[in-house]
Amino acid sequence: MTELPEEYYREKYRPQFHFSPPEKWMNDPNGLVYHQGVYHLFYQYYPDDVVWGPMHWGHAVSSDLLHWGHKPVALYPDALGYIFSGSAVFDKNNTSKLGTSEHPPLVAIFTYHDPEKEPLGNNDHQTQGIAYSLDGGLTWEKYSGNPVIDNKEFADFRDPKVFWDEEQSQWIMLLVAGDHLRIYSSPNLIEWTWLSEFGRDQGAHGGVWECPDMFRLTTPEGEEKWVLLISINPGGPNGGSATQYFVGDFDGIAFTSDQVEVKWVDWGTDNYAGVTYNHTPDGERVFIAWMGNWDYAPKTPTQGWRGAMTLPRTLSLCRSNTSYELKSYPVNAFSKLRNTIRVRREDLPGESRFQTSNFNAAEIVFKTTLTDQKWVFSNAAGNSLVIALYAKTKTLTLDRSNSGVTHFDPSFTQAVQIAEIPHLPEEPFEVRMILDACSVELFLNEGQYTMTSLVFPEQPFTKLSVYGNGEGLQPSFYGIGRVW
Ligand code: FRU
Repeated sequence: MTELPEEYYREKYRPQFHFSPPEKWMNDPNGLVYHQGVYHLFYQYYPDDVVWGPMHWGHAVSSDLLHWGHKPVALYPDALGYIFSGSAVFDKNNTSKLGTSEHPPLVAIFTYHDPEKEPLGNNDHQTQGIAYSLDGGLTWEKYSGNPVIDNKEFADFRDPKVFWDEEQSQWIMLLVAGDHLRIYSSPNLIEWTWLSEFGRDQGAHGGVWECPDMFRLTTPEGEEKWVLLISINPGGPNGGSATQYFVGDFDGIAFTSDQVEVKWVDWGTDNYAGVTYNHTPDGERVFIAWMGNWDYAPKTPTQGWRGAMTLPRTLSLCRSNTSYELKSYPVNAFSKLRNTIRVRREDLPGESRFQTSNFNAAEIVFKTTLTDQKWVFSNAAGNSLVIALYAKTKTLTLDRSNSGVTHFDPSFTQAVQIAEIPHLPEEPFEVRMILDACSVELFLNEGQYTMTSLVFPEQPFTKLSVYGNGEGLQPSFYGIGRVW
């Protein structure tokens, strides 16, 4: 491997252990597929500017979901349009006949967005196309018969998620059409039949539905359920973009759910368009999302590059009282990046104060019960990030109004972010906070409730003041090794 220069990935706000593009604009994760020991991460990419533009699929690979190697751009726009979000599968049995039985293909399924047709208003500018790779995902050939699903009906018709349905021996495609989900099936990834729709009158509808995903999870009690993820923009619980989920059943044709309440994968402002890997070892359900929000994404104060992904998270399902809850928690391998850091502690009346050289790439873990408490990160520049738990209202809040550079868009500090956390256990639960250059990810009770938020302090935070938790608090502090 060639030596990387010392300054590589050292720019201000550059994540040290989250994925971010080498340069220019990135949004959604795409084509998440594990194949022959490699996790592929494709992503919405505009290689010519730091704002959204004609979409390509950028590409990176990893063997552990944490250390990534950049690969050349995988998919370029063509006469049918830009390459919007989608997924990828390993067509093991060469059902598509795009490879051979000895060399079956990887197949990417994506939305074509035609920018010339869009302004004409005929609802025919988003169609679905496929491409295939015979060299393990490095280079891609578009299928000559594209589009494989045409469209003259929906202005928004995109983000295909395809997976293999073992029970019915069929490929399933999920597509979103504005305000609802549509499900299709295919024997060969090329001919698709429409099966069913879901959601016109269920769930949150404050904005357009995007980036669906659906998979089976088993609760610790052994109950099997299907979980449907739907990103929605705007209409998130704290403004702009967010991802809701439904717990229900899928019979090979239709998804049904009797869920009445709206549920959120993550309560923060910056966890969007998240989807999961196909074909992971042991069927682990690994989720990656874009740490961004369409309300202000093109204006964030980074230079030369823009956009980062969440940590890869393992999803699981638990049941509390009558309700199912989707947990999302950093993949196990993440803990290997921990190293020890020196933290000075002072216990003052009403405050436990922890100081270190910086919390730029750091993790703080402790146990607590649901009592009123406040955690304030601050620095010598006078910036502060305030996170709080409230027992009476059963809420977690995050206030970034004085957290540093915030002026780039009023929506960034419009309101304190609030998460509803009704079903935490009575006994002490874990609080885990992970900070990386321009982000904070909060995990309560191993991901039962999560909040992901961008934050741009003028200097790294050096101090954490904890109020209301007393001297009994015994946090562990870790530095997180950089992966770039
Ligand atoms: C979600 C999204 C998708 C679309 C892509 C375009 O953030 O709007 O619906 O495919 O981004 O870049």
